[in-house]
Amino acid sequence: MNTTVVTVDKEHPDKKAMEEAGRILRSGGLVAFPTETVYGLGGDGLNPSSSQKIYQAKGRPSDNPLIIHIADLESLEKIVKRIPEKARKMAEAFWPGPLTMIFEKSSAVPYETTGGLESVAVRMPSHPVAMALIKEGGGYVAAPSANTSGRPSPTQASHVREDLEGKIDMIIDGGSVGIGLESTIVDFTEAEPVILRPGYINQEMIEKVIGKVKMDKGLLITDEKVRPKAPGMKYRHYAPKAPLTIVQGKEEETVAYINGQCREMRKNGKKAGVIATDETREKYQAAVVKSIGTREDEEGIAQHLFGILRDFDAEDVDGIYSESFDTPRMGQAIMNRLLKAAGHHIIYLSEEEDF
Ligand code: TXA
Ligand code: MG
Repeated sequence: MNTTVVTVDKEHPDKKAMEEAGRILRSGGLVAFPTETVYGLGGDGLNPSSSQKIYQAKGRPSDNPLIIHIADLESLEKIVKRIPEKARKMAEAFWPGPLTMIFEKSSAVPYETTGGLESVAVRMPSHPVAMALIKEGGGYVAAPSANTSGRPSPTQASHVREDLEGKIDMIIDGGSVGIGLESTIVDFTEAEPVILRPGYINQEMIEKVIGKVKMDKGLLITDEKVRPKAPGMKYRHYAPKAPLTIVQGKEEETVAYINGQCREMRKNGKKAGVIATDETREKYQAAVVKSIGTREDEEGIAQHLFGILRDFDAEDVDGIYSESFDTPRMGQAIMNRLLKAAGHHIIYLSEEEDF
């Protein structure tokens, strides 16, 4: 398949290009597009065959449900059975934005889109290109992250091209995304709301709006038997090709430990990679050292995480060591992704980190 790549202005996407993308969606094709979180791979969420094509292009297991993206609140009514009061408040506070909510689905939503579930995930993104595409594409755009299943989510169009060129109809290049981690997911199908995936909108921000929310047990416990409720959270994910180890501790001991490991690797003829920060990059002696940004800017760390994991795949390293980034506001979301990428392999030198 020939994949058309069009570049658009983020704030004022070209009308003709967006109309063409909308036509592709309405006729059952697939279009990758930027959102404020990560790039999405869009298809018509109410068309079962479009959803099947999405699974195929990503190589994604078909029991892992898709998020339906909408452009206005009226659209929500058609695809869900009821909207709990707390969910309405959340929509008022955070939509359009990096929040996904789970509802009981209406009969308008095919099981192909929900991976066979009776519930449906819905998000109203704030990115102008995403908004324009939803409006042109019929109002209900099913979109997972636009990566091959298991790889880090794409934060630039070049990442999408790496994974999906030749497999989908169109890629809309709207530049780098703003947040860099996928949306926060909150489940409203149970008596009490539950966070199924941490993101930019954190627990504290949510609790200010609707009171107490729980974190899904499957997120907090690494026990294999406790399954996260969002099917996608159970899969090994984001993993770079080389094994990744996270090291948590104070700066000095972390640098010393990682340098020791890298020395061992070098002795054995192996190439080591390190995920450092602007503050520490000069202190490492490893074959490849990459800085994720400064510790002063946790939003920058979030924004660079997936890109840096991809960059290491191009470096042909045998093992990667990463500092830990349990930052004050987005730490839970950042560490959730980093831990998954590392297969939960973390070395604790001490509880403390320097922030
Ligand atoms: O920021 C985002 O949410 C991006 C952009 C493109 O909007 N999308 C995204 O989609 O991250 P995806 O498919 O990569 O992740 C969706 C997650 C998966 O873990 C999936 O299992 C979960 O949402 N999910 C979807 N529908 C669900 C449902 N009905 N119940 C529980 N979990 C659900
Ligand atoms: Mg994904």
